[in-house]
Amino acid sequence: MKNVLVTGGAGFIGSDFVRCFVERYPAYTLVVYDKLTYAGNQDNLRSVSERPNYRFVQGDIANHEQVRAALDAHEIDTIVNFAAESHVDRSILDADAFVMSNTVGVHVLLDEARKHGVERFLHVSTDEVYGDVENGYSVESDPFEPRSPYAASKAGGELLVNAYHVTHGMNTIITRGSNTYGPYQYPEKILPFFISEAMDDRPLPVYGDGRQIRDWLYVRDHVNGIDIALHQGEAGEAYNIAGEDQRINIDVTHDLLTRLGKPTTLIKHVPDREGHDRRYAMNCDKLRALGWQRQYDFDRGLAETVAWYRDNEWWWRKIKTGEYLEYYNRQYAARLAAAT
Ligand code: NAD
Ligand code: DAU
Repeated sequence: MKNVLVTGGAGFIGSDFVRCFVERYPAYTLVVYDKLTYAGNQDNLRSVSERPNYRFVQGDIANHEQVRAALDAHEIDTIVNFAAESHVDRSILDADAFVMSNTVGVHVLLDEARKHGVERFLHVSTDEVYGDVENGYSVESDPFEPRSPYAASKAGGELLVNAYHVTHGMNTIITRGSNTYGPYQYPEKILPFFISEAMDDRPLPVYGDGRQIRDWLYVRDHVNGIDIALHQGEAGEAYNIAGEDQRINIDVTHDLLTRLGKPTTLIKHVPDREGHDRRYAMNCDKLRALGWQRQYDFDRGLAETVAWYRDNEWWWRKIKTGEYLEYYNRQYAARLAAAT
């Protein structure tokens, strides 16, 4: 492994992977390939921009010519695909870009990777492909039951990855992460959204009864899981990466208000997300057997995350303008007007 194309490397998890890998693997060249959608942000890569083993290419994974040019120019032997539309609520408002990037884009990337002779292709997926898990824990062999357009588009991408392994013998690995949080997360996802809104004494729109359960995974633990799967995973296999720290949304909301010293009167129960999955939970024994172990429980991870958003207003304040405000109004104006 020498030249690694990190698609979606300007996003939240991809940029943590790059910040980690430039240090941990100085012999690798990390080539970020990113379309720079609303979620892609060069500020996330500022700390590595001068590193000798870092490169940046702006491009779309759904564009054959652009992908081919990047693979050729940088003599890529490994791809780690983070590139995706990642926000469930946006997929409910309009799913076009989700199908294009998360399904068609994965096909284009696989097709060009195969023709180029890429030796290892790791695809970053999600626990949402399993659908709502009322009881118990999803294992890698469970059937897919995606319920949101986002989850369905990610399941489509995964099916293509598996098909390229079976049909063309490509050396593929899939990872399925749970709800990831930490520094540099776009402030539309619940934790950075609620932290930054609460800091400004603005309402926190909790969907429905707020009793939904998510499993929280600190971003560096997610990256470490991808690292192990990339280096030690078996071709054609999928690996769950879970924080194994399940929390109820309303409890998480109270927790972060306490940490910020803000009143619970900021909490507004608003009409629920359509098709809202109540619970995700995964078993990650398969990855643990390769040596992975989480380093952060939710209490430690949340403390560091709250501190980071407090200390890095420069990063998130400029995001919360323009397109972000348009999205905020589409998503929340009517909901907040109907809040209880
Ligand atoms: P993000 O939205 O922060 O970043 C996505 C990045 O992909 C952005 O930099 C964006 O510009 C880029 N991108 C989007 N479409 C592209 C395209 N067509 N071509 C090239 N680049 C494109 O997302 P994230 O939270 O960092 O998630 C990264 C990956 O991890 C996604 O595949 C997501 O499905 C998966 N995942 C996320 C979580 C989570 O909780 N955030 C959990 C499990 C899995
Ligand atoms: O489970 C992995 C998935 O986690 C990833 O694949 C997705 O990319 C990532 O966005 C995340 O999806 P969720 O939908 O679980 O994350 P989100 O932060 O949007 O919501 C977390 C929970 O909080 C969910 O139950 C919905 C609720 N929520 C969210 C927002 C934004 C609210 O109650 N109010 C809100 O305003």
